[in-house]
Amino acid sequence: MAKGKFVTFEGCDGCGKTTQTRMLCAYLDDRGADYVFTREPGGGKISEAIREVILDGKNAEMTDECEALLYAAARVQHLADTVKPALESGKLVLCDRYFDSSFAYQAEGRGLGDKFVASINAYAIEKFTPDVTFLIDLPPEEAFLRKNGADENDRMELAGAEFHRRVYRGFIKQAQKNKKRFVVIDGRQSRETMFASILSALKDRKIID
Ligand code: TYD
Repeated sequence: MAKGKFVTFEGCDGCGKTTQTRMLCAYLDDRGADYVFTREPGGGKISEAIREVILDGKNAEMTDECEALLYAAARVQHLADTVKPALESGKLVLCDRYFDSSFAYQAEGRGLGDKFVASINAYAIEKFTPDVTFLIDLPPEEAFLRKNGADENDRMELAGAEFHRRVYRGFIKQAQKNKKRFVVIDGRQSRETMFASILSALKDRKIID
């Protein structure tokens, strides 16, 4: 059984996730903590190659099912390359996005439904469920404002306002269905306030000292 702790970060594009994970890594570095920071899709050679195919704005004809399967494939490889070895050696693993993103973006956003997404992610769900998942709760209208609009080379960001509204609702639904695992952070707060909530949740759960 895995000994390390597994923490994931979720939210709409531009919600402020990256700032929070950077602040957490700096905090842990200052204390000499042994941890691994990684991201999805990506985090290793094969998964990064899959990431490029998925996000490439030129791959407009990709079917929704193909997209969902590629995210799941990148995830399985990333688990084997990075997450599993780190957890087995007792490390703390921090991951920017994980299977909850597939429930938000593919199940809700693309409309593929929870059943399909759960079935293709069963391996990750059964064997590597996070100990805690932080959802940075910021509606897409505000998230995109913060980012100055969508990145024109990013297929997901180009998917349209209605799509991103559904994604947002998908995240809220995941958090409501998994209340014990999720910690919802109000994304409208200052970065310092959000970070303080993240730290205290990690301390309460004895994930960090
Ligand atoms: P990324 O640049 O990492 O987004 P961000 O920095 O905003 O987190 O790109 C990842 C994109 O992939 C993002 O739009 C969310 C999407 N995604 C899914 O649609 N399904 C998934 O399972 C995952 C992990 C990501």
